[in-house]
Amino acid sequence: MTLSRFDFPEGFLFGAATAAYQIEGSSFGGCGPSHWDTFSATPGNVKRGLGGGVACDHFHRWEADLDLLKAANLDAYRFSTSWARVMPDGVHVNPAGLDFYDRLVDGMLARGLKPFQTLYHWELPSALADQGGWTNRETCARFADFAQAVTHRLGDRVASIATVNEPWCVAWLSHFIGAHAPGLRDIRAAARAMHHILLAHGLAVERLRAMGQPNLGIVLNFDHAQAYSESAQDRLAAATWDGIINRWFIEAITAQTYPAVVMEGLAPHMPRHWERDMEIIGQKLDWLGVNYYTRHILDHDGTALWPHLREVPGPLPKTQMGWEIYPEGLRNFLVRMARDHVGDMPIYVTENGMALADDGAGGVTDDPARTAFLFDHLAAVRQAMAEGANVKGYFYWSLLDNFEWAEGYEKRFGLVHVDYETLARTPKSSYHALARALARND
Ligand code: FCB
Repeated sequence: MTLSRFDFPEGFLFGAATAAYQIEGSSFGGCGPSHWDTFSATPGNVKRGLGGGVACDHFHRWEADLDLLKAANLDAYRFSTSWARVMPDGVHVNPAGLDFYDRLVDGMLARGLKPFQTLYHWELPSALADQGGWTNRETCARFADFAQAVTHRLGDRVASIATVNEPWCVAWLSHFIGAHAPGLRDIRAAARAMHHILLAHGLAVERLRAMGQPNLGIVLNFDHAQAYSESAQDRLAAATWDGIINRWFIEAITAQTYPAVVMEGLAPHMPRHWERDMEIIGQKLDWLGVNYYTRHILDHDGTALWPHLREVPGPLPKTQMGWEIYPEGLRNFLVRMARDHVGDMPIYVTENGMALADDGAGGVTDDPARTAFLFDHLAAVRQAMAEGANVKGYFYWSLLDNFEWAEGYEKRFGLVHVDYETLARTPKSSYHALARALARND
């Protein structure tokens, strides 16, 4: 199915998303070390042991990259401002870092692109990681200082600010599963990170509100949790996964509570007096960002400790990440968010996309599967809107092939191909299909 911008209400925003560490090159411009630099420099953590030192060299090529967004007829660009670039030691400002984002934001405005800024897309300065990172409550206060410093400089020009990208990845994936920096597998660290990342969000919102900054939100990731069978145990496994990834953050923010099904495992490990923070965490927001990629099928695992579950491979066609393609999940979450949590509050799909292999056989930029993925998910957005979800925009992940965290550079999510030897950018057929769909007839 091919849709066009005219199938959506006037004012609906189409954009593409990136994140600082994945594209900029952390070795340029006085950027400080982050836990992603050291995590990726440790054997076994990232495929081929590659980090984000150069990445896509966006630090030097940002103008051409903004031109690509503009030429795709996009309305908005979701980018992030690296904490380690702005504050190399986690505390003091690096003027060159702020200057870079200043130019970048002006470059967006000059091209008619709305800047959708994310404050934390995961590059925690090493100096703060040394002090315990997200297991340390102090990091939350430092984050509010960072939010203030960046907003002081850019806040007059950005269209919106998200505090944190995907708190589940920051906390659970990184402190319980251990797949992302800092690579911990510790339930006490995980419980603390699950709470502190939300406290950091709340303190930043409080600080930015005090500055009069409008249009504040957060970007959460959602994963459709499917029980492997109808058995009560498998349904509990799916409900537990749903609690950990889909309910923990949104319920804290909208209802100031944590789900009982998750507290069953985490309660003994929570920071003291966590309840006292819930009011700060639960401040009203202006919009919610929904990131959606796939579903997971969960099976009860009686031999495992809490949360007593394991993932089972599913039958649907998969992306290069091995993720099942399931657009229905996007529709479900958008409708569920509106119905159960945010009502009429604007929702943006802040990330959705697929990785496809660069097969080296000339098929690199011919990616009809990505085009189909994109339009099928846009159709799901439309259905959710017809069912009452107040969705105001959709951002494809990602503009460019880039550093895909623990997967290194092999997993390619871009509308634009990046040759990592020459750093040349080549738009793929999906890019051209999207540009056609978004063209205005004037
Ligand atoms: C999300 C991240 C983003 C990217 C995509 C594929 O979890 O926010 O940086 O890696 O997945």
